[in-house]
Amino acid sequence: MKIKKAIIPAAGLGTRFLPITKAVPKPMLPVVDKPNIQYIAEELKRTGIDEIIIVVSPESEVIMRHFSAAPELENRLLSDGKKALYDIEKATCAFNVKFAVQKEPNGLAGAILCAEEYIGDEPFALLLGDEMIYAAPEEQSCMERLVDIFDKTGKSVIATMEVFGDDVSKYGNLGIESETDGIMTVNAIVEKPAINEALSNNAIIGRYVLAGGIMSKLKTLKPKGNEIYLTDVLDELAKKGELLASTFEGRRYDVGDKLGFIKANVEYALRNEEIGKDFKAYIKEISKTL
Ligand code: UTP
Repeated sequence: MKIKKAIIPAAGLGTRFLPITKAVPKPMLPVVDKPNIQYIAEELKRTGIDEIIIVVSPESEVIMRHFSAAPELENRLLSDGKKALYDIEKATCAFNVKFAVQKEPNGLAGAILCAEEYIGDEPFALLLGDEMIYAAPEEQSCMERLVDIFDKTGKSVIATMEVFGDDVSKYGNLGIESETDGIMTVNAIVEKPAINEALSNNAIIGRYVLAGGIMSKLKTLKPKGNEIYLTDVLDELAKKGELLASTFEGRRYDVGDKLGFIKANVEYALRNEEIGKDFKAYIKEISKTL
């Protein structure tokens, strides 16, 4: 295992989710009973990556509080005999999380650069803070697959899924040179292309493993407007044959989007031990009225 660290950029404005994101950071929106960012930390734990750097906005101290110990609450839960709830609370502070603050929301690459002091030029995993991927216990998680491919090839690898119609223009788009067993060699990348300019139906989604040296490359990029673009570095790698993409098992949810967020809640509510059975009965009942 060569990947020891992961960055979760979570400092965006979350404008698609206004008005709630005015005061509540998007990563704290709950999927059933946990903030969505905790599921991403759990995905990393499952992969064996235990050093997590979360990039937050200056107003997001609530995210830091979520991952910190709460001694008063813990003592109260113990003295009230609520051991199960105590264990739930303890699980939130069991992650090895560090925080980097992004002062201005100047884009994804800007967020990644904020974590430079923790990463240097090491390879790292990158997980966008507003995408959740449900993988069943018997499936290989998306991150496990990417790390596996990186271990075998030493090349940067990004997760991809097929998209069609208008959706093609919503994502970074991949030019594919060749494909074997769901692993593709990428030869070009275009950012959110018009449908007639797309290179394929393969979209970039928010899971990456990036080889060593990416931070240095990001620093040399010329800004376009106020932003520098990760895509520019990825395109450079693609042109040199150093970028792979991979399909993955499980279902991906864009929890930064209202519909995606509700769908994620349905997926996890149906699987929830406490409410899953009753929720399923409710879904069946309400679907008769649709
Ligand atoms: P989005 O493109 O979804 O942007 O960012 P956003 O600001 O969060 O949301 P909208 O579009 O305004 O509704 C993708 C991921 O990159 C992070 C976001 O937090 C999200 O997890 N991000 C984006 C940063 O950390 N910093 C940025 O400057 C921009």
